[in-house]
Amino acid sequence: MYNKLKRCLECVREKTDFVPEVALILGSGLGDFADGIQVVDTVDYSDIEGFPVSTVKGHKGRFVFGYVEKTPVVIMQGRVHYYEGYDMKDVVLPTRLMGMMGAKKLILTNASGGCNPDFQVGDLMMITDHITTAVPSPLIGPNIDELGTRFPDMSEVYSKRLRSIIRDCAKECSIKLQEGVYVQFTGPNFETPAEIRLAQIWGGDTVGMSTACEAMAANHMGMEVCGISCITNMAAGISKFALTHEEVQETADKVADVFKALISKVIVRM
Ligand code: HPA
Repeated sequence: MYNKLKRCLECVREKTDFVPEVALILGSGLGDFADGIQVVDTVDYSDIEGFPVSTVKGHKGRFVFGYVEKTPVVIMQGRVHYYEGYDMKDVVLPTRLMGMMGAKKLILTNASGGCNPDFQVGDLMMITDHITTAVPSPLIGPNIDELGTRFPDMSEVYSKRLRSIIRDCAKECSIKLQEGVYVQFTGPNFETPAEIRLAQIWGGDTVGMSTACEAMAANHMGMEVCGISCITNMAAGISKFALTHEEVQETADKVADVFKALISKVIVRM
């Protein structure tokens, strides 16, 4: 795996020598955030040897390199999910690659289903911690010693320092911000009401199909991580209605401008 990562890095370096400080993974509805920054370079995933390419409709597949004010960033426009059939190690390959490009900090974003009944559709939630009991760890298999230790500590995956910055930025922009625990399920199916009750018993506030695995891989290699989730729907059994991808997309699009404003502010501040 490390050799594969090094080969991916070589492919990127053939196209650009840009060194990012912050890495950003864009979730549903946020895809065009990258079009609003000062773009320096782009690299299509398909030009990177061995790189997992998303099969989800409407997901662009490329790295965008550029500046948000003075901060050099690399943005993933499109990510792959475990449910697409990739091994968890491939799902987190892009995250590790951005770390190897030089990014010291990572912002994860996603769409998720609220299982905390106090949440409302359209709320943004800062991720304070996660539960990945329902999915395999991306760290299973031979440890990549060059990146991190065999038994990494996960007691503060989502950096306290970055959480405090996100909280301040939301307040300054008058954005309502929930906080809570994200539970990653495999997807692609939405959960059953019984699975959502389980997630609640576990202490989860929201459920989704991404993010926590990427946070783990980034934590393993020493990156400072934060995450913000858009509650696009109430989770199964809480919502009276059947869940659809269209509803997720629709809410994500509605909240996108507020979400993008918050992320811009956070990048400059972190
Ligand atoms: N469950 C899982 N993933 C999701 C959901 C959900 O309800 N909403 C958006 N992504």
